[in-house]
Parts: sequence; C-alpha cells; structure tokens
Amino acid sequence: MNKESIQLHVNGVRHEIEIPPSKTLLEALREDLRLTGTKCGCDDSSCGCCTVLVDGVPMLSCVMLAASYPDASITTIEGVAQGEQLDPLQEGFCVEGGAQCGFCTPGIILTAKALLDRNPKPTREEIAQAISGNLCRCTGYTQIYASIEYAIKKLRTTPVAAASGGR
Ligand code: FES
Ligand code: FES
Repeated sequence: MNKESIQLHVNGVRHEIEIPPSKTLLEALREDLRLTGTKCGCDDSSCGCCTVLVDGVPMLSCVMLAASYPDASITTIEGVAQGEQLDPLQEGFCVEGGAQCGFCTPGIILTAKALLDRNPKPTREEIAQAISGNLCRCTGYTQIYASIEYAIKKLRTTPVAAASGGR
C-alpha cells in the first residue's frame, strides 16, 4: 500500500509519520503515535468515543483523514493533564465515579473541556446538549453530570485550577 509522509501536531508535539493516505486520524493516533487513550467504539461516527479536540473543537477522529490536518493543533486525552496535575475534569470523573468501564470517558472529557472553555458555567441542560453525541452504556449519565459539575465548581473556586487548565 502506498504511504505518504504527513505531519501531525498532537498535544504540543509535532510528529512526522509515514502512513497510507486513507488512514484515519483515529488509526494514526492509536497505531502510529501509540496514543491509545482515544477509543474506537463504532468506527462510523455514532458513539463519540473517538472524540479529540482539533483547534479546540471536539471532532470525531474515526471519520477524519489524518493527512488532512497537517496544521491543526490536536489534543487527545493524553494531553489534558498538566504534568502530574490532573485536569479538574479528570479529577471530577475520579471523585464522582463518572468513569465505570471508562471506554467513553476520554471522549466525554474532551467534549466537556471544549464546553467549559467557551462556557465556564453551563447548566445541566447545556451539559446534556454538549455531550449528547457521546454515548455511555454504563453510568446512566448521572455520575457524568456530577463529574463535570465538580470540575465547574473547582474551576470557579480555585484560580490555580483555572489557570492550569488554560481556561
Ligand atoms: S468511534 Fe468514532 S464515533 Fe464511534
Ligand atoms: S463508562 Fe462505560 S461506556 Fe461510559
């Protein structure tokens, strides 16, 4: 199979990889960059498990060609923490039990991160709308809402968390 050299800018690091032009961003992240935090739930844009941020916008990496985004800044779940310091959203999912099997969790955290970046005080309804494309089979969503609301509260009450989260 033909391969071409492409550039990807992921979590602040620029990579050059040789891949077939038909390779999806999800495949390139998982197979070539070994960033396996991004999950494949359906491979047809139905579940949201493969969500990554592309220039801050949640997008489904299973239906994106990796070669089409040489200049974009891509964030995966591996790029959310600041060193040893978890993002308030990650902390919220730990404290409130928002992750059970965890398969949907990276996509939901990234979708929620984009929401909080543009709206630091979303209502429960706005949270539900934002994550409506992210399916979870385990939690019934109550703990997911609680996890995101934990982060909202922490970002509001801890200036350091807001600064380290880039918000
Ligand atoms: S794996 Fe991409 S939406 Fe399900
Ligand atoms: S925690 Fe299992 S799918 Fe959401």
